[in-house]
Amino acid sequence: FKLTTIEENEAITNRLLETGAKVGADSWQLRVKNQTPHCKFGEQGVCCRICSMGPCRITPKAPRGICGCDAHGIVGRNFLRFTAGGCAAHSDHGREIAHTLYQAKPEGPYKVKDPEKLIRIAKEWNIETEGKDIYDLAHEVAYVALGEYGKIEGYQNFTSRAPEHTRELWKKAEITPRAVDREIATAMHMTHMGNTSKPEALVRQSFRTGLSDGWGGSMTGTEFSDVLFGTPTPIETEANLGVMVAENVNIVVHGHDPSLSELICEYADDPEMIAYAKSKGAKGITVSGVCCTSNEVAMRRGIPMAGNFLQQENVVLTGACEAIVVDVQCIFPALGPLSKCFHTKFVTTSPICQMPDSDFVRFDAATAGENAKAIVKMAIDNFENRNPDLVYIPDTKQKATVGYSLEAIVKTLDGVTNSQVDETGTTKPLLQCITSGVIRGAVAMVGCNNPKIRPDYLHVELMKKMIANDIVIIASGCSAQAAAKAGLMDKAAKDLCGAGLKRVCELADIPPVLHMGSCVDISRMLMLAAELSKDSGLNISQLPVVGCAPEWMSEKAVSIGNYVVATGLDTFLGVDPYVSGSDQMCELLTNGVRDWVEAAYTVEKDLDKLGDLMIERIEEKRAALGI
Ligand code: SF4
Ligand code: FE2
Repeated sequence: FKLTTIEENEAITNRLLETGAKVGADSWQLRVKNQTPHCKFGEQGVCCRICSMGPCRITPKAPRGICGCDAHGIVGRNFLRFTAGGCAAHSDHGREIAHTLYQAKPEGPYKVKDPEKLIRIAKEWNIETEGKDIYDLAHEVAYVALGEYGKIEGYQNFTSRAPEHTRELWKKAEITPRAVDREIATAMHMTHMGNTSKPEALVRQSFRTGLSDGWGGSMTGTEFSDVLFGTPTPIETEANLGVMVAENVNIVVHGHDPSLSELICEYADDPEMIAYAKSKGAKGITVSGVCCTSNEVAMRRGIPMAGNFLQQENVVLTGACEAIVVDVQCIFPALGPLSKCFHTKFVTTSPICQMPDSDFVRFDAATAGENAKAIVKMAIDNFENRNPDLVYIPDTKQKATVGYSLEAIVKTLDGVTNSQVDETGTTKPLLQCITSGVIRGAVAMVGCNNPKIRPDYLHVELMKKMIANDIVIIASGCSAQAAAKAGLMDKAAKDLCGAGLKRVCELADIPPVLHMGSCVDISRMLMLAAELSKDSGLNISQLPVVGCAPEWMSEKAVSIGNYVVATGLDTFLGVDPYVSGSDQMCELLTNGVRDWVEAAYTVEKDLDKLGDLMIERIEEKRAALGI
């Protein structure tokens, strides 16, 4: 067993960029050079263009904008707007899924695959389930979920899943999330010219907005995706560009919303379509993925993961991609012009994500089947347009076991139960591993790649360091894909663990890095933390668990960071969220908020320090518990 190194992945990228140079393609690597050095005011968060008296930027000579706002107010407002953008994206994704569930039919393309989960949610929300047709119930529950976005009074329904202590803290800090749309509107209103410029109030609303994402929109995305497409269970797959097959029609799905990609996978598997592909000279059809759409179909169908965020251009550069089909979020507009350098069809599908130089196939739940079929056919028809001289698919790939939903983790760890632990179906076996010290703790590794950091470097190196120290990793998003590409989701990676974690991996038959899903599935991590807290009687902030987004880049990541911290988990970032221009904002985020939510941010760009700080924090929490 051998990990794929960062250097190997870089060599592959360089080889692909040579093809790109041949056809005159642009790349993020080139664009980064053009954009460096970045605007210093932007980096520090001290540029304001919220009104047209500006833009204003803060310098020692000009410490206030024209309206009189100081650096703290400007940085704070920018931070809140950043959060609102992220919350809107995640939550709207959740809304789309709820909408899809609302249109599910027994004979339609969307069915209820996990009725048990649906009934569980209905009961939680006091919706009568007795004697109801499962589809009637689905529509009723989906309707209520859609109402959560604009509810007139009260708080997000899912917050009742949080431990009582957490809810008390939220109440005291006045950050319990109300309607999702309202939190976003409040954020935009508060940051309008002439409203809030007090950092403390802006951070509070950042947390409340984030919480409406984590315990609202994102959780809706996760839970209703499970209801529609099935709750993930452990499944074998593969990762890295080598999953693409030169002889086959290659369709790459990219984005976040599984509604479309689920159907693409279904039609790509259809014997009629495969026969059609063969009639066009291909041996078959390979669907692989990039970003979270990929995580979704990998977790449920074992569809291989071609790469993560900063590899989206690479899949086109292979010259063997017949179609890159995207839904929403994290899609480079660069894919338009890039695909024009090859035969690749760049297919956009959502009114939310429309781009020049793409074929727009408007995807709609009512016509989803036809849309997906048309896209698969378009890819097949495009196979003969390939230029064989440009085809290069690196043969690098790794095996990965994915699909560790909360339910799957609980079930899998029942396997390590010894005589002292007799409560199956709870997180108690995991707690037992932690309290006995066999596992020291857990790190939730999440988030994107960012050209400011060598792609995957921090993700992979930190994970290696953690597992060597008997700290189990739960991963999602592009972080999970970084792990899978490296080989850390191969069960054989247990050999890289400390003795304790290695033993657990052997007993439970799991890899040391557990793939919990997409970015909205960080809500699964919230639920895991909540369950651990309830099963142990400890507060979430007392658990030896921390969060880490070492290479994050999007507004969504800041929304996530806010809800993870606000849920009581210390969160470590490798990239600064444009707040360094205000010492008051820095002090609040890295320390002050601890008074409200018992957790805070740490920003550290140095790999070794970042890793050491996380281990230190976990050990501190253990020491405080006397374990
Ligand atoms: Fe300048 Fe104030 Fe307008 Fe911002 S809101 S651009 S700081 S005048
Ligand atoms: Fe994502």
